[in-house]
Amino acid sequence: MRRVLIAAVGLALVNLVPAAPAAQAADPCAAWMDPHDSADHRANALVAAMTQDQKLGMLTFSNPPWFAFYGTAGHVDGIPALCVPDLVLSDAGSGVAGLQVATTVFPSGVAQASTWDPTTQRRLGRAIGEEAYAKGINVMLGPGMNIARTPYNGRNFEYFGEDPYLAASSATAFIRGIQDNPVLASAKHYAFNNQETDRMTVDVRVDERTRREIYLPAFEAAVKKADVGSVMCSYNRIGGNYACENPRMLTGYLRKDWGFDGFVESDWGATHSTAPAAMAGMDLEMHASPLPQQYFSADNVRAALADGSMTRARVDDMVRDTVRPMFEHGLFDHPVAPGAAPYLSDVSTPHTELARRAAAEATVLLKNRDDLLPFGTGGGHTIAVIGWAANPVGATSSTSGGGSSHGSGVARLVSPLEGITSAALAHGDRVVYVEGSNVADARAAAAAADEVVVVATDGSTEGSDRPDLGFRPEVCVSVGCSSIPLDQEGMIAAATAANPRTVVVLDVGAPVRMPWLADAGAVLLPWYGGLQHGNALADVLYGDAEPGGRLPQTFPRSEQQASFEPAAYPGVDGKETYDEGLLVGYRGYDARGERPLFPFGYGLGYTTFAFRDLSVRRAGEGADATLTVRNTGDRTGAAVPQVYVSFPRSAGEPPKQLKGFDKVTLEPGATRRVTIHLDRRAFAHWRGGWVVTPGEYGVAVGSSSRDLPLRARLTMR
Ligand code: BGC
Repeated sequence: MRRVLIAAVGLALVNLVPAAPAAQAADPCAAWMDPHDSADHRANALVAAMTQDQKLGMLTFSNPPWFAFYGTAGHVDGIPALCVPDLVLSDAGSGVAGLQVATTVFPSGVAQASTWDPTTQRRLGRAIGEEAYAKGINVMLGPGMNIARTPYNGRNFEYFGEDPYLAASSATAFIRGIQDNPVLASAKHYAFNNQETDRMTVDVRVDERTRREIYLPAFEAAVKKADVGSVMCSYNRIGGNYACENPRMLTGYLRKDWGFDGFVESDWGATHSTAPAAMAGMDLEMHASPLPQQYFSADNVRAALADGSMTRARVDDMVRDTVRPMFEHGLFDHPVAPGAAPYLSDVSTPHTELARRAAAEATVLLKNRDDLLPFGTGGGHTIAVIGWAANPVGATSSTSGGGSSHGSGVARLVSPLEGITSAALAHGDRVVYVEGSNVADARAAAAAADEVVVVATDGSTEGSDRPDLGFRPEVCVSVGCSSIPLDQEGMIAAATAANPRTVVVLDVGAPVRMPWLADAGAVLLPWYGGLQHGNALADVLYGDAEPGGRLPQTFPRSEQQASFEPAAYPGVDGKETYDEGLLVGYRGYDARGERPLFPFGYGLGYTTFAFRDLSVRRAGEGADATLTVRNTGDRTGAAVPQVYVSFPRSAGEPPKQLKGFDKVTLEPGATRRVTIHLDRRAFAHWRGGWVVTPGEYGVAVGSSSRDLPLRARLTMR
């Protein structure tokens, strides 16, 4: 309303007095508050109008910090006199987390990637952005897009798996979804932050080609394709320099190579200096309590300006970097209203169905002997539900990973036990429950039941890596976890041995070993499924929903397959070299000729598909791969045709790499011609720049990285 009135007054005055001074007198913000002006123009106008003190106030967090400001991760006070809104930042990737109340916990990042469905991922991002905005939050500290270099990384559950193409596609969709709202996303943790062991200090060495081809593409896509508003620099060092004071990272790749024009904020406590960090390209310091040294405080920046280690022009750039995406994505035009009312409001209800559907779409069916799943719907069966992770207490940990992304809406959590019990009731079945810490009880309950659902969880969490591929259950709250002694491997072994009609449900953040696999009737992997996990699991068990997921990460057959030399992981004397280079995940398994337990891209469904008639032809700068997909089973389901490219030998690339995919839902008997476009980058590798080696490329299409029945060749010049 205020803007409309001012516009009218401005028009009326146009013939009487010079317009600009009159408009400015009426409205001190007029020069940058016209939503039709470009973000650049508005940002420049605002910076030009700011005093030095106002600028210095925008370089670091305001008090109270971290969770003491309406349960958020931090904030920067706005400047009401200049119409600058508060910047309110919150975690993140599976929903509005931290110490929030009544928000939705969606499936975690690895589960989102597991959908192989950018449409679902954008919906999830959009819903999370909507909830954030309604909560008075305008920066979401996600998505996390670090590559699953090792299955031991405690935070892989937040990320999008081991493949740069899938991670980039997931990040792009999710960021677009968040930023469909007047809320900025934050691409994190930039970069090479692929482990939690020594995460604050480890110094990683990664060659340039591996950086460009494996670890940076998701960030590059976040900037170039999704126009992400902010990037979070990570805790670790890179080639000796902290990530948050690394000019190559913060100015070289990000701004010069990719054209990033938003702000870089430090991970919480990842700032280690004033001038070196600021001059390297960091814009905003963030930190956790207890309050330590504040490097970007007004006093410290003034001192750096006085001794010449920082320039005024750089301060202007830092503020411009921050306000520019705020203008572009509507944060000035739709300012958030932080305060008690939005903090207490329940924003989760409209997204319950989406959370439920997405959890089923993310669930990977790893094994289904003799079509044990879906269960029959005739009624009269006894279903034994076994496992601490299945009950409402265990489910607070088994539906969301530990640390800053841990979901906070536990009041509405539907545990597996609750979800299965209500579905069983509806189908005329009966549920018996044992907690499973006593293996003999688990065995007896399993033996006496018609079907068994045994649920186990690990304890993937921020702050520590997993010591092995076993289950390490933990009880997690927002900022920490503590382990609980449970023999879940023994529990599963007992149940699967006692009853062949046993479904093992893995509520885990990362690959686990499966010594009991041969005995299991079926294995479902929902990852951390969020608030609606129990309902989604019941939907999948009874066939009301398809298990739609495909693995975004290879499952190793043994610890040995997953092992590294200590100098490569977790590092020696604080240093670590990524000497496997490009051979990350399935690229390494392929190159070494090793057979994993479950390959990248794998996942069954309740129907079957045939892929045939592949044709590959040049299209634009790249190529189109076209194939026919047919649903050969008797249920509707979704196929995920995956396109892998092999390079000419002289390019020195891994044996094959994912470069395209689609998710295609078909009714029984239905057939569709599907075209998957491969851009020029699909055929390029890094050699001082992106180059396409002239020669013959292989294009293979199928349903996983190890099931590629369709093959074609293509010549690129
Ligand atoms: C985490 C970030 C998170 C931040 C704020 C840090 O410890 O690494 O991912 O966004 O805390 O909670």
